[in-house]
Amino acid sequence: MEFDMAVLPGDGVGPEVVAESLKVLQVVGENFRHSFHFHNGLVGGIAIDTDGTALTEETVNMCGQCDAVLLGAVGGPKWDDPQAKVRPEDGLLALRKRLGLFANLRPVKVLPMLVNSTSLKPEVIKGVDLVVVRELTGGIYFGQPKKQWRTPEGRQVVDTLAYSEAEIERILRVGFELARSRGKKLISVDKANVLESSRLWRQIAIEISADYPDVELQHMLADACAMRLIQHPSEFDVLVMENMFGDILTDEASMLAGSMGMLPSASLAGTPKGKTFGMYEPIHGSAPSRAGQNMANPIATILSVAMMLRYSFELEAEAQAIEKAVLVTLEQGYRTYDIMSEGKTKVGTKEMGDLIGQRVK
Ligand code: IPM
Ligand code: MG
Repeated sequence: MEFDMAVLPGDGVGPEVVAESLKVLQVVGENFRHSFHFHNGLVGGIAIDTDGTALTEETVNMCGQCDAVLLGAVGGPKWDDPQAKVRPEDGLLALRKRLGLFANLRPVKVLPMLVNSTSLKPEVIKGVDLVVVRELTGGIYFGQPKKQWRTPEGRQVVDTLAYSEAEIERILRVGFELARSRGKKLISVDKANVLESSRLWRQIAIEISADYPDVELQHMLADACAMRLIQHPSEFDVLVMENMFGDILTDEASMLAGSMGMLPSASLAGTPKGKTFGMYEPIHGSAPSRAGQNMANPIATILSVAMMLRYSFELEAEAQAIEKAVLVTLEQGYRTYDIMSEGKTKVGTKEMGDLIGQRVK
């Protein structure tokens, strides 16, 4: 089959990890007889330097015409000035919004051979296999008004957490569907003891749970969830939550897996059933201090490509072939710096990409 992919390497280590994931994808193409056509675009700091904006119309349109988007990372110290008019992150947020990518799936799986490379006790993180479903195009990230102004008493500021019923319902349904395809347990995370938006969220969760009698719904306050994630992470299966809760709790959850360099993500424009348009990116950022040194762990991006095969191209066997190749490479003792431990073989970004590519069957 033939597929069109928008490729947006972005900043920092983005281009390096994207290059390795495309290498692995080429092997999948050869072994399974598919053609993947890559269409390059700019986003983030590099787009600011080139076009003066973090995301051009041209890039948005190009992405919209493809079957899926692969993104590296955006940002870096060069564009960090808090007074700056445009930020690399604006490009990412605009892409999410413009492409309607409301459902962000962030799986966290602790691999048995890496239980000793995290700062948590092996017995705590053993068996962790959860997915956070984060609402990605609404909530406090996008609500209006959002501004700063001056008053005689000093500066004033407002951010707004707004949701429509339809926005809450569609993301909760993604959570229920995913829970149905996994352990049949859904935890809806909110702050219903304080926020009105959370009270509606909880109410809608209860209402639509009637459509999923096979899924057990549980509500958890976001602060309690933060605690529980560190205390008993293996209890969790699927969690669903508002945009900023998801931002914060997925950084926390990523530490269960030892390194952010291991974790992929998918941002989908629909419920993951059949072929769904989506954007795929590693959870880690642009890591500017590691850029250009052949150091970054490409596994998060390679696993993001596996998610792309699964959700946007409906190529499950091919997705599993990549996941298997990653496992075998790690089992054979190869490690990038971030997951290195005694007795293992340290490799760079390119070597890790080559090793995984050679193991795709
Ligand atoms: C993430 C990132 C982004 C976010 C930033 C880069 C805007 O932290 O994808 O989690 O806050 O959503
Ligand atoms: Mg984040």
